[in-house]
Amino acid sequence: MSQMKTAIVYSHSAKKTALVANQIKAMASMKGIEDLNVDELSVEKLMDYDRLIIGVSTWFDGELPRNWDELVPAIEDLNFKNKKVAIFGNGNQVGYPENFGDAVGIMADLFESLGAEIIGKTSIEGYTFEASRALRGKFLAGLVLDFENQHQLNEERIKKWVNGL
Ligand SMILES: Cc1cc2nc3c(=O)[nH]c(=O)nc-3n(C[C@H](O)[C@H](O)[C@H](O)COP(=O)(O)O)c2cc1C
Repeated sequence: MSQMKTAIVYSHSAKKTALVANQIKAMASMKGIEDLNVDELSVEKLMDYDRLIIGVSTWFDGELPRNWDELVPAIEDLNFKNKKVAIFGNGNQVGYPENFGDAVGIMADLFESLGAEIIGKTSIEGYTFEASRALRGKFLAGLVLDFENQHQLNEERIKKWVNGL
């Protein structure tokens, strides 16, 4: 695992996402990973890595934030076969119970359809919501954090997730 070339990819202007990204980068097993800013990314750069850690919050009632949304057509031209993709993102299960963390599911579907192996699924235990595009049976397609309602669980959830990647 340690020889895998890894990048963490998120919008540096998404405040809470950037906070989480910095916590991930500070963990021992993530030493030396590269940091890519979605706001100024040429997607071909993603091809340089074996493993991608994608940060994407859910916005607009179940959609990708604009910066990610604009990159999707270019990403669809790439092939992610033999690459591993882990996705984290923020959501609000009380405010948006029908679309909780949808963006994590949207990105998982996208990268999976392009050949990637999605890693880092998490249990739904401890969350309360109605529906989510991130739902995979009793799991979520990645790590979904809820700053608004379960902020105190973030650190533990992040640690557990990164250690399982
Ligand atoms: C206009 C708006 C729409 C949102 N829509 C959703 C949603 O559909 N599903 C969800 O889980 N969270 C939704 N949220 C909550 C955000 O994902 C949450 O506040 C998150 O922490 C934002 O993280 P960021 O600062 O990194 O972008 C929405 C928030 C706003 C302000």
